[in-house]
Amino acid sequence: MGMLSRDVSAGNLIFSQGDGADCAYLIEQGEVDIFVERDGRRQPLTVLGAGEVFGEMGVIDGLPRSATARAHTDCSLVVVSAEQIQQVVARSDPFFAELMRKLVGRLRDTQSSLIAGRETVGQHSSDFGPGYAEVVRERDIAEAIISGEIEPYLQPIVDLGGRTVLGYETLARWKSETMGLMRPFDFLPLARRTGLIRRIDLTMADRAMAICARLGNRADAPFVSINVSAWLIQDRSLTATLARMMDQHGVAPGRICLEVTETMLIEDLDAAEEAMDDLRDLGIRLALDDFGTGLSSLSVLHRLPFDVIKVDGSLVQGCQTSARQRAVLRGILDLCGRLDMEVVAEGIEDVGTARALGDLGFTMGQGQHFAPPAQAEQAMAAWREEVP
Ligand code: CMP
Ligand code: MG
Repeated sequence: MGMLSRDVSAGNLIFSQGDGADCAYLIEQGEVDIFVERDGRRQPLTVLGAGEVFGEMGVIDGLPRSATARAHTDCSLVVVSAEQIQQVVARSDPFFAELMRKLVGRLRDTQSSLIAGRETVGQHSSDFGPGYAEVVRERDIAEAIISGEIEPYLQPIVDLGGRTVLGYETLARWKSETMGLMRPFDFLPLARRTGLIRRIDLTMADRAMAICARLGNRADAPFVSINVSAWLIQDRSLTATLARMMDQHGVAPGRICLEVTETMLIEDLDAAEEAMDDLRDLGIRLALDDFGTGLSSLSVLHRLPFDVIKVDGSLVQGCQTSARQRAVLRGILDLCGRLDMEVVAEGIEDVGTARALGDLGFTMGQGQHFAPPAQAEQAMAAWREEVP
């Protein structure tokens, strides 16, 4: 028998109320009495059997054992170390971890009033922790979507040579009344974790289509790129939703490009592939976003039907001084050529990088050097001015 199992004969103590908690137990076989002492008398709480866990409370909240555990029959126990449990809690969603601690706290409260013979429970903690803060933030984001505080900014995607605006990427900006201008990094990670990103994506898509309609339907009118999360791209109803939006705004599918990032997070590749085939059949173009960051991997290139690859700024910046980096970029161009995909270089911040990319054979780019993301009106004016 190793350290991870413990056999206890009927009648023996496993631990006592008030002991320090260094592990929890799973019952493999047998039954365990859980009881507390009250006025020197035993007050039974429960009898646990195979498949149940005990001793988890002290491990979760770090306080002494809330009750005594004694083998009711001969028992085989699996020892679960405090570290194992604490790691599971730490890895879980912050709100879930918070719920866990709150529930343990409540159980202790109830128990201690039972022992003391009190009717009312003890003081509640006002230390809410990160889980609580996140729920408040999530509420704020949800309200911001409804109130329109989250709006699309536009950043042009240009022709590297002629500097014509070919399209615009819509980027979510949150102009919070209380917190000021929030960048995607300030609120999208939480939105992605909780799934709220779907509503942000769909709201942005709707507003992007309104913008697209306002750009007119001349043959050379810019396309509009919309970011969609891994959540949405696995959703087969996405095509119908977007088709309805395009219909409402009178926008042709060929003017819309969907940028899919976080392809590493697509759990159901089959569902994503089906949704993407539907979208392409409709005439919408699909771009693999942030290529080269680890959020999008090479392996999806042959699985998913992308039309465009957006090479991340981290692969692009500094390419004029690094021959190795240029070799990587050349390789990407070659690869995309073979797969019949277009390539957009992102994050171009200076003229040197733009020239170096042009020399390598890139034709499309995006970045501060050309224009930062700006409010829709301002960004669209740039295109109108440029048109003869
Ligand atoms: P812990 O406080 O670490 O040690 C005693 C254990 O008894 C506790 O974790 C729980 O696993 C278990 N326990 C405490 N109270 C109850 C209860 N009311 N019902 C069932 N099990 C309990
Ligand atoms: Mg993007």
